[in-house]
Amino acid sequence: MRMYDLILKKRDGGVLTKEEISYFISEYTKGNVPDYQAAALLMTIYFQKMNEEETVNLTEAMMNSGETIDLSAIEGVKVDKHSTGGVGDKTTIALGPIIAACGVPLAKMSGRGLGHTGGTIDKLESIPGFNVNMTIDKFINNVNNFKIAVAGQTANLAPADKLIYALRDVTATVDNISLIASSIMCKKLASGADSILLDVKTGSGAFMKDTDGAFDLAVEMVKIGNNMNRNTIALVTNMDQPLGNAVGNSLEIKEAIETLKGNGPEDFRELCITLASYMLLLAKNVNSVDQGRKKAEEVISNGKAFKVLKTFVTEQGGDVNYIQNIDLLPKSKKIYELKSKETGYINKIAAETVGLSALALGAGRETKDSTIDLSVGIVLNKKAGDYVQKDETLAYIHYNDDAKKKNAVNKLKTAYMINEKNEANTQLVFGIVTADGIKRL
Ligand code: URA
Repeated sequence: MRMYDLILKKRDGGVLTKEEISYFISEYTKGNVPDYQAAALLMTIYFQKMNEEETVNLTEAMMNSGETIDLSAIEGVKVDKHSTGGVGDKTTIALGPIIAACGVPLAKMSGRGLGHTGGTIDKLESIPGFNVNMTIDKFINNVNNFKIAVAGQTANLAPADKLIYALRDVTATVDNISLIASSIMCKKLASGADSILLDVKTGSGAFMKDTDGAFDLAVEMVKIGNNMNRNTIALVTNMDQPLGNAVGNSLEIKEAIETLKGNGPEDFRELCITLASYMLLLAKNVNSVDQGRKKAEEVISNGKAFKVLKTFVTEQGGDVNYIQNIDLLPKSKKIYELKSKETGYINKIAAETVGLSALALGAGRETKDSTIDLSVGIVLNKKAGDYVQKDETLAYIHYNDDAKKKNAVNKLKTAYMINEKNEANTQLVFGIVTADGIKRL
């Protein structure tokens, strides 16, 4: 087989076979295909697109390019959740204990990554002692004994995706639904879950800015999951404003803890309960989403989910005193109040701008070697749809460095759109995608 022939075939509108796709992935991963040929093939895929079968074959080949995790030693149906990412997305930290308290195991490999704030692991590391480096045996034992464990991605999962993503990033070939869907799904599939719930975000703070594009991606990923015999459902959810109020590592941990105690912001609590109800359904723990919702609400109100969080933190070496008393968690030296210049309804809080403001404070990584300041971030005092008076506080900026604060304030000011009329779209879930198709809400 020759790369030249594959490029030519795809350039002229042909359909690549499973063998051809496997050849490209395995030879490129081994370093036997030069970047210029790989880039040329990606560009032909970008323009000619891939059909469903090619996309599934690409996903499978990338999944098999490295280790795959065997979770069969864990009892019960293992359901994983994947969010395509957004601002203030601390969902796993509250959702994990909720589903674990309902009896469904959560075995999660999580990442750090670049972003406006750290990833789930960075956030959890706001709790002193919390450790995500564990052997696969300890990971599996913890899930069997306590129904929940979160480990760092130490395994060599889907190395082909890392190489190809880096190449796509510099050759303008990221924005292709088959390439995005296969890139996300190959890592999820390699992580070993039986069923997958996808939270596909749309809006200014999301990777997919427009809702139709988010539905297209959701459909593609659901098809891949189900083709690979994993029961897969996707929810398309709103990321036009930050999720919850807190954006920043320890601030988000505090919000997740408050939510498990029944006190969190309404949108975040609602999303956690909705996602939990679908995860319980996928795990066959309940017979309907309504039943799942009731069960999720119950483990919050009876304190079981909070208890699971404490066990989870203790079993991974974290100091549980920081969960009991959130005032102990990392705190910034100073807080600045951003006041409104106008009176009216908040129609928009551009999520991406809030994220960039948090990044300017030091909450995230600009490069993979940057150090995160766990204590800084932004807490919104008002959300889209709220009425605000002139001089009322819009947001609290938690900071340690005056120059960084100035930069963050200048950015954050531009995130707000305030008008006389309330035209905010605060719908949380735009639709559900299953093997049966799309249900728009
Ligand atoms: N996230 C991924 O993991 N891959 C993509 O291609 C896009 C977003």
